[in-house]
Amino acid sequence: MAKNKTKEQSVKLENDKVRIVIVGHVDHGKSTLIGRLLYDTDSLPDGKMDELKKASEKRGEVIEWSYLLDAFQAERDQAITIDTTQIQFSTDKKNFVIIDAPGHTEFLKNMISGAAQADAAILVVDAVEGLQEQTRRHAYLLSLLGLRQVAVVVNKIDKIDFSAEKYGALCKKIVDFLGGMNIRPSEILPISARHGHNMTVLSDNEMPWYDGKTLIQLLNDLEPRRPSIARPLRFPVQDVYRLEEKRIFVGRIESGILRKGDTLLFSPTNEKAKVTAIEEWPNPDIETVEAHAGQSIGITLDKPIFVERGHVASHEENAPMLSNVFRTHLFWLSKNPMKVGDTFKARLHAAEYNATIQSIDHLIDTETLVELEDSERVEKNQIAKVTIRVRDMVALDPYSDNDKTGRIVLYDEHSVVGGGTIFMDGYADQRRTLTPKSENIYKVDHLLSYDRRAERNGYYGGIFWFTGLSGSGKSTLAMKVEQALFKKGYHTYVLDGDNVRHGLNKDLGFSPDDRSENIRRISEVAGLISDAGTICITAFISPYRSDRKRARDIKPERFHEIYIKASLDACEDRDPKGLYKKARKGEIKQFTGIDSPYETPENPDLVVDTEANDIETCIAQIVNYIESNIAVKKNDNDAQNENGEKALAI
Ligand code: ADX
Repeated sequence: MAKNKTKEQSVKLENDKVRIVIVGHVDHGKSTLIGRLLYDTDSLPDGKMDELKKASEKRGEVIEWSYLLDAFQAERDQAITIDTTQIQFSTDKKNFVIIDAPGHTEFLKNMISGAAQADAAILVVDAVEGLQEQTRRHAYLLSLLGLRQVAVVVNKIDKIDFSAEKYGALCKKIVDFLGGMNIRPSEILPISARHGHNMTVLSDNEMPWYDGKTLIQLLNDLEPRRPSIARPLRFPVQDVYRLEEKRIFVGRIESGILRKGDTLLFSPTNEKAKVTAIEEWPNPDIETVEAHAGQSIGITLDKPIFVERGHVASHEENAPMLSNVFRTHLFWLSKNPMKVGDTFKARLHAAEYNATIQSIDHLIDTETLVELEDSERVEKNQIAKVTIRVRDMVALDPYSDNDKTGRIVLYDEHSVVGGGTIFMDGYADQRRTLTPKSENIYKVDHLLSYDRRAERNGYYGGIFWFTGLSGSGKSTLAMKVEQALFKKGYHTYVLDGDNVRHGLNKDLGFSPDDRSENIRRISEVAGLISDAGTICITAFISPYRSDRKRARDIKPERFHEIYIKASLDACEDRDPKGLYKKARKGEIKQFTGIDSPYETPENPDLVVDTEANDIETCIAQIVNYIESNIAVKKNDNDAQNENGEKALAI
């Protein structure tokens, strides 16, 4: 018992520490601020202050607080006592850890990889120089990592003669800039770290106009981040242990609450099982009936379902999204630029996946916060919005829903090359398409086979799936090809986007989820039409690779992906329905190519370039392709006849 209590106490102390990170442009005073803070809070090791005084006097200077950090660094380099990446101090009310002191080469990497997770940040801005490049970059990083407790200190206030006007003007700039990235500083205060103004007491003589907090008061108001118990349950499995017959799934609850008896849904397998026991981890002897965010536990289940490292348990309601493609907001750290097609290891919650850069959608100018388009590469220290693809489905949370599981870190070999947050704008949750709803259903066999029908018709039914941007020519070509095939004696039918949305799919709009459902239904219908021995041509934008792949998987041997190729510029010039114009004006939202993604086919069976060729050439190309793919060859008939007795001859 006593032992347990000690453990609890030490955990409490650890949790009570506020972990802060101090960021800002070089020479704006980060190190001085830390040195001064250590002094003001009486946190310097014995003798350090004397050393510092001597060193400063020797140089005939006022006390140079940043020497302290240099001295710590030197000691660290010699592997003595102090670790500059974890400097501790306490005020009368709270304990603090400064994680990753400035100048530490791994500073950004640690922030991005989550190795150094701060509760709060202090952004240091030089009163004379104002917002500089690194101020902006660091601030952006804070917003990217969702650090919501950000305070700003305007340092070297003495150098602008304690001018309230100059300070006010700079504050406005700071607030405007931070507002652009959704940071509302909890406090801005004018200080001089070197001279100690407004650090422990207000400097009324110099700044009678300032009646806000001192730095110490500001620090006292910062809170440790609380684990997100109120969010939906996320329990990423880190390990599976086997103890005799028992399998224990171990991990840390990242958010929410897990109770004994809960039915858990595992992602990406989409399988369910009940929790039969919860054990504290690594003390499996201590059973509990409830565990919550922040706790490490092991659970056992009532069914032997397949679960491995990286799978995420949730409740059925509020499950994570499932997708093999997602968007990210990334900070790039590697000296090697990132390019489309590059592959990396991506760490998402507890597991690693092979990830490919599908597209670099925008670079972000941290000066103006404007999104720049059309980038081929992302250079070191740049920030970009990037679409990433992994091979198989993974459980995903947009960062806005869950700041624990909505993060990604990219590795090349073993070093961190980038990281940031996940967002799913423009992409669908694919769980719906993977979750059957009906039970107690059976399959009834047809007495007429696909092959038998082909034998009668003299050609096979098939699915010729046109994909391309709106205005690329899909509908026009589909109708013309249908007509040409009909003239030649074939049975064909076109399923067209606009048409189907007047009937079968009139309940669907253009959100990513609706588009996926649109394509899922059409894929099934196209499969049935082809079963009936008819040539089915579909003309849908079908912007997502995963949807097209699912369409192919229904009848892979008779599915043909035909990419109707035209650049966005050409489609926008044509604009047959005037929709691009409306989309550009913002009158239509989520328009493909404008503010909704189109994923170009990787390996289409046929590419028809409607920009390079006239319409007759395109029609001939497609008709040719179709005819050569549906022909019943002599051997096919022979093979059919061998087991033809299965089919009814009519
Ligand atoms: S898909 O993305 O779900 O495959 P679909 O091919 O059915 O789209 O419908 C596309 C047609 O709907 C376009 O050719 C256009 O006429 C019309 N449309 C209306 N709103 C949109 C939109 N937001 N994005 C794309 N097409 C739209």
